[in-house]
Amino acid sequence: MAPSKRVFLFTAVAAASTLHGRQALNQSTPPTVTLNGSTIENPTAYATPFVLNVEDMWDLLVGPVSTALVTTTASATPVPSSSLIPPPPLYYSSFPSGQQNPMVVKNESWSFPRGFMWGVAGAAWQVEGAVKDEGRGPSVWDVLSHRVTNFEYDNGTADITDNHYYLYKQDLARLAALGVKAYSFSISWSRIMPFGRGPVNQIAIDHYNDLINTCLGYNIIPLATLYHWDTPLALQDTYGGWLSENIVNDFVEYARIAYAAFGDRVDYWFTVNEPSVFCNQYPLPAQYFKNFTIPWQQQPYYCGHNVLLAHSQAYRLGKSMMPNSTIAWKSNGGYKVPLTNSTEDAEAVQRAWDFNEGLWSDPIYLTGDYNDNVKAYISSFLPAFTDGQKAAILGSADIYAHDAYTSQFNFAPDGGIAACLANTSNPLYPVCSNSSFIYTQQDGGWLIGPAADPLTPWLYKATDWVPAFLHYIKDTWAKDKPIAVSEFGFAEPFERQKTYLQDILFDPIRSAYYHDYMEAILIALSEGVNVIGCLAWSFVDNFEWASAYGVRFGMQYVNFSDPTLPRYYKASFFEYKNAFDVYQEK
Ligand code: BGC
Repeated sequence: MAPSKRVFLFTAVAAASTLHGRQALNQSTPPTVTLNGSTIENPTAYATPFVLNVEDMWDLLVGPVSTALVTTTASATPVPSSSLIPPPPLYYSSFPSGQQNPMVVKNESWSFPRGFMWGVAGAAWQVEGAVKDEGRGPSVWDVLSHRVTNFEYDNGTADITDNHYYLYKQDLARLAALGVKAYSFSISWSRIMPFGRGPVNQIAIDHYNDLINTCLGYNIIPLATLYHWDTPLALQDTYGGWLSENIVNDFVEYARIAYAAFGDRVDYWFTVNEPSVFCNQYPLPAQYFKNFTIPWQQQPYYCGHNVLLAHSQAYRLGKSMMPNSTIAWKSNGGYKVPLTNSTEDAEAVQRAWDFNEGLWSDPIYLTGDYNDNVKAYISSFLPAFTDGQKAAILGSADIYAHDAYTSQFNFAPDGGIAACLANTSNPLYPVCSNSSFIYTQQDGGWLIGPAADPLTPWLYKATDWVPAFLHYIKDTWAKDKPIAVSEFGFAEPFERQKTYLQDILFDPIRSAYYHDYMEAILIALSEGVNVIGCLAWSFVDNFEWASAYGVRFGMQYVNFSDPTLPRYYKASFFEYKNAFDVYQEK
């Protein structure tokens, strides 16, 4: 059966229940409406089963999408040697070797171990494009970008983005030409299963098979992420995506299909990317997705709970199917520095760890259950984990993978932590930890480091804190397990405004970020922290979620105005590569 003919049983519930905003979420009794003089007690009870195929879903729920110039898989062409020449000196001294470092000597006490996996990362929805091609079903992000007014910067869509779906051979050739050792990509769940469950799309399996084989052909290690935020729309519309425990079985079944198809060649797996980000996106914008009856403040925690169940089961299944694999999830968040040395600020720092990284890391690495601060908040509405669930969660990661982009200061809210905890309408409730990127006035009032693009207000080049950050992860959660910096990267300020190619390619703050970050990892390694790899975000400019094409994270520039979408290495890519040329044991 061709993928576009596969059917999905879609239950459309009367509009009255879907079109409410946050205010209506607490309602416990169904609304009563009056039509033509007769009262209808519970209009939400009217339901109809629609049968939709993939094409219908796109047409009805997303609308028309754009297609790229290239719509078949392109073969790679040789990378010209002229594009492999590193840039001249930047405004600081670089590592010794290559064209950009006349003055510095190598630090002989540093090295990256031979097997250190230095690589790059991307994610399906941000780089693939071809959103509707070859049987892919829509994800929530296709709807957000097409249907939610002003949701995206400049109304951008990821319909085409880098067209990596068809250009991956060339992309991998370009990575291989620089000697990149590892490529971390995510699999689009709704390509493999257009409705998130049910029929499997063989064309998608064939596609990722070829991508993986192409990596291996270049000796590039493939690392696969099962879920990078692109929830299949059918699952969101049917039961609320991660808000419902129904997602656990669907995710595990999807994991089973991916492991069975690719597990003979992919040894490194990440189940979910950054739950603290995608869970905090709940409630997704009203009017477009069913909000159900979970109060909006609680939604991130329902999501988090279901993530722990889904992740742990997918981990256990993966280990049973691929005993030699390395499986983890991807945590994220900046290093948390107390703003002052007060006791309250120390407590605020702890609360921030507890509600962010700790919400998943404490159960997975320490106890099988939530930490006390989280429990104090969620125990009134979420069920406790059963002993069986706790046992499955505890130890369900072989490494600690952290997307460690930046650092921040944390401090107690105005009025103190206790007052915040007593006031559920405090905007900082329930975490009750404030944050900032600025030192106190007594410490000069400086930023923690140079700012990234204004559209990424959460990101500063705070690389000085990275060794302490890695020690913290080791001491708190990883212990004897290896650590991977599974994403890190920088958005050069105002890069979108540059028009002159050579100017775009010379990205000094991003280059300094990679240089200093590598130095920080070398320091941590020399101090005994077992970092096994790092994956730079990103190998190309791509679709940066709600910031669309307004923000550039690529170490390669992509000219999105040219329909052939040409790629060019930026200076930062050479800086990154140079660190390994100099410091990786041969
Ligand atoms: C996410 C990426 C995102 C990057 C930069 C990471 O947290 O995993 O998808 O593009 O940050 O914002």
